[in-house]
Amino acid sequence: MLGVMQAQTTVQIELTTICNFDCHYCAGRSMAQRHMDDALLQQVLDSMPTQQSLWVSLQGEGEPTLHPRFWEWAQAFRDKGHHVTTITNGTRINAQRCHEVLSNIGVSIDTLDADEAERIGRYNLPKVLSHFEELVQTMGPQRVRVHTVSYGQDVRPLLNYLQGLGVRAIVQPIQTKPDYARRYGDLPAVHVYRQRQRSVETYTCRFLDGRTPMRFVNIDGIEMPCCFIKDAGAFESTQHVREALARKVVPTPCLGCRELS
Ligand SMILES: C[S@@+](CC[C@H](N)C(=O)[O-])C[C@H]1O[C@@H](n2cnc3c(N)ncnc32)[C@H](O)[C@@H]1O
Ligand code: SF4
Ligand code: SF4
Repeated sequence: MLGVMQAQTTVQIELTTICNFDCHYCAGRSMAQRHMDDALLQQVLDSMPTQQSLWVSLQGEGEPTLHPRFWEWAQAFRDKGHHVTTITNGTRINAQRCHEVLSNIGVSIDTLDADEAERIGRYNLPKVLSHFEELVQTMGPQRVRVHTVSYGQDVRPLLNYLQGLGVRAIVQPIQTKPDYARRYGDLPAVHVYRQRQRSVETYTCRFLDGRTPMRFVNIDGIEMPCCFIKDAGAFESTQHVREALARKVVPTPCLGCRELS
């Protein structure tokens, strides 16, 4: 499946699509809800290169810690010599275990306003923040990062709070692909998507040109060059995507992608 990879490659594995949140921008809420088969996970593990130490990110369109064997699999990838990370919604945190097994961890927080968090489907913000601070205390601020989706909210209070704790924030704009945007209703991202379809100038992206080397293995074991292709039925191969873009044609799996500038 995977074979030899560039040194900085991240292998992202979608080990579940099940979640206990209902974020308004999450493509995963419209996907079949299940965990990845253990046999498939074993296949991915066995196909990891043995001479290389890579980054393995255990997460996709679900809450990774809901996978019943999340910790066993994290340990198994670690035992093979890889750095293991994940991104979590912060509801099910065992800070000591995170400290011992994971190289680092991302926690998703979009706002410090508990009502707004509730409104967008990121429930129980006080509990998430308390878990997050426990992680920072146990792992140290260098090993914890926060992922924030910018969807039009004021992120300054959150960024000030993180700065005070010495924690890095990764603020990413809401994804503009129709794979995601079909869930957005009247969120502004829908209009960005329509505009983006008309204005592609650079027919490549950081995942295809090697700046961000990644292999994404989705819940069905389909290997893709990035984690943004949610309609896997429209994806033939990375080679097919490359060939289309070389002809200045945006292939269906990449339509509306904000990574195409
Ligand atoms: C899909 S989640 C999976 C991990 C976990 N459930 C969580 O929310 O942290 C991974 C990251 O993608 C972000 N994300 C989800 N949908 C997005 C979208 N439509 N645009 C941009 N980022 C998105 C989430 O906020 C989270 O930081
Ligand atoms: S917590 Fe993560 S997986 Fe769950 S709904 Fe939100 S973005 Fe999606
Ligand atoms: S969807 Fe296509 S353009 Fe967007 S990041 Fe993935 S490969 Fe690149």
